[in-house]
Amino acid sequence: MFGKIKSYKRINHGVEIDFEDGSGQIGVITDGIINVFAGLETQEHFSKAITGEKATRIDFDVIMKSGVIKINTSKLIVEISDNFMVDFFDCNHQPICQDYRGKKSEVKAWDPKAAELAALEGHADQSDSSERKIRIAKMMTGDEAFYGLGDKTGFLNKRGYEYEMWNTDDPSPQLDYFKSLYKSIPFFITLTKQKVYGIFFDNHYRTYFNMGKESNEYYYFATDEGNLDYYFIYGDTMPEIINGYTYLTGTTPLPQLWTLGYHQSRWSYMSREEVTGIAKRFRELGIPCDTIHLDIDYMDGYKVFTWNEEKFPNSKEMIQELSKDGFKIVTIIDPGVKIEKGYSVYDEGVKNSYFAKDMNGEIYENAVWPGPAVYPDFSDERVRSWWGDLQKSMIDKGVRGIWNDMNEPASFNGELPDDVQFSDDGRGANHRKMHNVYGHLMAEATYNGLKKHDKRRPFVITRACYSGSQKYTTGWTGDNHSIWAHLQMAVPQLCNLGMSGMPFIGTDVGGFSTDCTPELLSRWVQVGCFSPLFRNHCNIMARRQEPWAFDQETLDINRKYIKLRYKLLPYLYDLFWDIESSGLPVIRPLVMAYQQDENVREMNDEFLFGGGILVAPVVNQGQRVRSVYLPEGSWIDYWTKETVDGGRYIIKETPLDICPIYVKAGSILPCYPEINYVGEKEIEELTLDIYPGVGQYLHHLDNGENFDYQKGIYNEYCFTVNDEEILKIELRHSGYQKGYKAFRILYNGKEYAADFKGETLAIDLKTI
Ligand code: GLC
Repeated sequence: MFGKIKSYKRINHGVEIDFEDGSGQIGVITDGIINVFAGLETQEHFSKAITGEKATRIDFDVIMKSGVIKINTSKLIVEISDNFMVDFFDCNHQPICQDYRGKKSEVKAWDPKAAELAALEGHADQSDSSERKIRIAKMMTGDEAFYGLGDKTGFLNKRGYEYEMWNTDDPSPQLDYFKSLYKSIPFFITLTKQKVYGIFFDNHYRTYFNMGKESNEYYYFATDEGNLDYYFIYGDTMPEIINGYTYLTGTTPLPQLWTLGYHQSRWSYMSREEVTGIAKRFRELGIPCDTIHLDIDYMDGYKVFTWNEEKFPNSKEMIQELSKDGFKIVTIIDPGVKIEKGYSVYDEGVKNSYFAKDMNGEIYENAVWPGPAVYPDFSDERVRSWWGDLQKSMIDKGVRGIWNDMNEPASFNGELPDDVQFSDDGRGANHRKMHNVYGHLMAEATYNGLKKHDKRRPFVITRACYSGSQKYTTGWTGDNHSIWAHLQMAVPQLCNLGMSGMPFIGTDVGGFSTDCTPELLSRWVQVGCFSPLFRNHCNIMARRQEPWAFDQETLDINRKYIKLRYKLLPYLYDLFWDIESSGLPVIRPLVMAYQQDENVREMNDEFLFGGGILVAPVVNQGQRVRSVYLPEGSWIDYWTKETVDGGRYIIKETPLDICPIYVKAGSILPCYPEINYVGEKEIEELTLDIYPGVGQYLHHLDNGENFDYQKGIYNEYCFTVNDEEILKIELRHSGYQKGYKAFRILYNGKEYAADFKGETLAIDLKTI
């Protein structure tokens, strides 16, 4: 499509290339990140994912030899040849990723007549072999596995499947062959025995990913519109690739501590009495809980930013009362604005031209919960700022977080037509271009509004998103079902979202649609306990599934795992502390840490919670024993404290209340005492649960709420255990006044208490 190379020119951060039929650019962003760009629609990148300049000043050489342009960085050799073929090699000229130059495979071998017949019974052809305007095919050499791609259904390794990036609200039970769900994150990691790299295709039109389904010789990503604009990210390890991707698209900022606690939700808690009753029940039953979510029925006629004063009289007072008992309220806000003259949000939007329009310049109308509705044009800075300011009324009521839903955007009268018009900050764009970033821009507006009007760290949850949304929002995986297949899917789905730069993520615990069972909820809460966003939520038509909804056993299991979550809160918070700079996930597939171990490349029912805790949940009905694979090293069974050698499978009995958990030898886990909610009491004594072996751990303490930590108002503790079993406790950074006064040490079944005044302590663990 580009023809032969005519000439090239070195520019500031890369090379500009003139082909017979067009031009392209190679951007050298860092030593290991290269951008491949051709302005087929606009000469500029139209990224909504990347903010600010990412290219760094690095040395690179460019030469042309035998018709091939060669760029050398300290990590990569990039070779560009005719037709804008781009091949990546390491410094020893070993291939990492090369463009595929062969023929496109034909996969459809069936007779069209037979297909017509099959269609009569409702069978459909699942594969897509359409020609695309932009199609980048990369060679496969044999053992490629693919990870990432956001919230796609199915298993961990995406090899052999095809997907589309088109934010989709489809409540039917999601299955392995679904091509798209709510989120569009066009980023994946390719792993082979020798190499690992990532590709981020930064194009928010509808894009297509065929991960070796069409052929064993290549995989491809494609689109019909926009620019050719992708980033190749190279490194030695999967974490380095995720680092690179989140260097480009941003990392999740440190959340408020309470957001990491337990959340209870239902569509909907219908009245003030019901919400208060739910809150009371948690405290009576001694089940920790921080947050209750109010779904759409708190609103007046589903009008966003209004309250149903009949069902929720004096809502401000209700929220205040609940907060005395430690409960925080999160409210849902959908983008669809009810068409109703006299409703201020609608009136203001009309007056200021804030809503998306049709081709004739009339406000575009569709329908969602309130009936006929219009869609704020979040691609316009004025609208983002207005929407941000609308959050103030919620904050003034005492609301602590905003849950953005239906922002694919969902619509009840068919999908928005392609030609619905958006501003794109003055550039002008249609729905095809804005669809995949609609939820992203809504989240950005919400985040900035909360930050402006509340001095605390914004808490936003979204259903739809694009690459880079992690800077503004957490996410949940939308409307799953209360079926075992969806509990099974939760693990790879959360792992892949994590590897796609979205660390703060969760599923509806218990499943959203259809009816949950006691056993399913008991097993789901065991996965929920380790899910960054831990929220039980279900459909208005589904049986209730609060922790007490079934029987005593289910209640006890819920309490046990919710308490475990609260115990591990400081560990989880430390992970988020690190995530703000590293971009790494909380829930990690084993392959991320044990890349060379072939046993874990397709491990769908085990994961790591941070670096030190391996979780092997039971995701099958009736399963009372399961095999667990432990990677190399020594592991300690969290429940029995037995040490087990890794590098093999073991058998673990799994009665209903046991989720197999293994802690890596040498781990130091900071733990909280029992609490009902975050902020219930000052934590003066931190427990250090120490697992024999050499190890080091950095722990952070701050007010857990606002941005003071960015000014150095936090404490950093360093805990080290050496090979002589001496535990050293050091206060490395002291900026927060309310530090710990004591540490309780757990080691080999023994307990030891040490007072602490800020001095460095050395404790001989052999003698405690
Ligand atoms: C959507 C959401 C779900 C919510 C419901 C009502 O289906 O995905 O979580 O409960 O709308 O607001």
